[in-house]
Amino acid sequence: MSREREVKSHFDEEAKIYDELITGIIPYYREMVEALVDAIPVSGDSDVKVLDLGCGTGTVAGKIKERYPGASVTCMDVAPNMLEEAKERLKGYDNLDFVQGDFYSLSEEESYHVIVSSLALHHLESDEDKKQNYRSIYRALKKGGAFYNADIVSGPGEFTHRLYLEKWKEHMRKSFSEEEIEKEMIPRHKREDRPTTIFNHLKWLQETGFKEVEVVWKYYQLAVYGGVK
Ligand SMILES: C[S@@+](CC[C@H](N)C(=O)[O-])C[C@H]1O[C@@H](n2cnc3c(N)ncnc32)[C@H](O)[C@@H]1O
Repeated sequence: MSREREVKSHFDEEAKIYDELITGIIPYYREMVEALVDAIPVSGDSDVKVLDLGCGTGTVAGKIKERYPGASVTCMDVAPNMLEEAKERLKGYDNLDFVQGDFYSLSEEESYHVIVSSLALHHLESDEDKKQNYRSIYRALKKGGAFYNADIVSGPGEFTHRLYLEKWKEHMRKSFSEEEIEKEMIPRHKREDRPTTIFNHLKWLQETGFKEVEVVWKYYQLAVYGGVK
């Protein structure tokens, strides 16, 4: 099975239990999502168009609708079962679209005031894929629009790599056994995830044309960063 198909079927299979699992896997998941929503430079009653790439079960979109009730949010994900969970979670809100789509083929132009993503873009395979994705995001934003991503990043050297891994395991040990961590979580991370350093991301965003490029939150291998068109 290709890596992309494995990622898709993993999230399709896990959709029902994703929300239970994610806080045990990702340290400060809720704080990270808060930081992502805090970073969006619009006011509370704004009538803004937002795109959430790899929306999963809709946590980020829900937070955006709580904070900005006038926002229209397009929730995009490659896994239909994750979208079903998102629809269920967000059924009390209006102005939401659910699109089964692949962020490799984002092709809109000047359509959104805000594009966000959480724990999804590290699935892009190569450096070139990641740069291309930033170019597509830039094109899809209206002038003055903002992009913010909350995601896993890699350490720039062997020491930070080991430090980040140890901090991650320290967190997972609160919810999972050593065997689950070593035989399931870490091997799956190696198979499915392709994080790169925060410096690469910031450099690529600037090269794409983004201004005000900034990291607004960071905890070892997790970062919330972005910029403005
Ligand atoms: C770890 S989950 C994150 C979900 C949610 N954003 C959150 O923060 O809880 C990653 C999500 O990215 C989606 N995804 C992975 N590759 C994708 C792709 N190429 N295009 C669109 N979505 C993708 C998965 O299906 C999954 O729902």
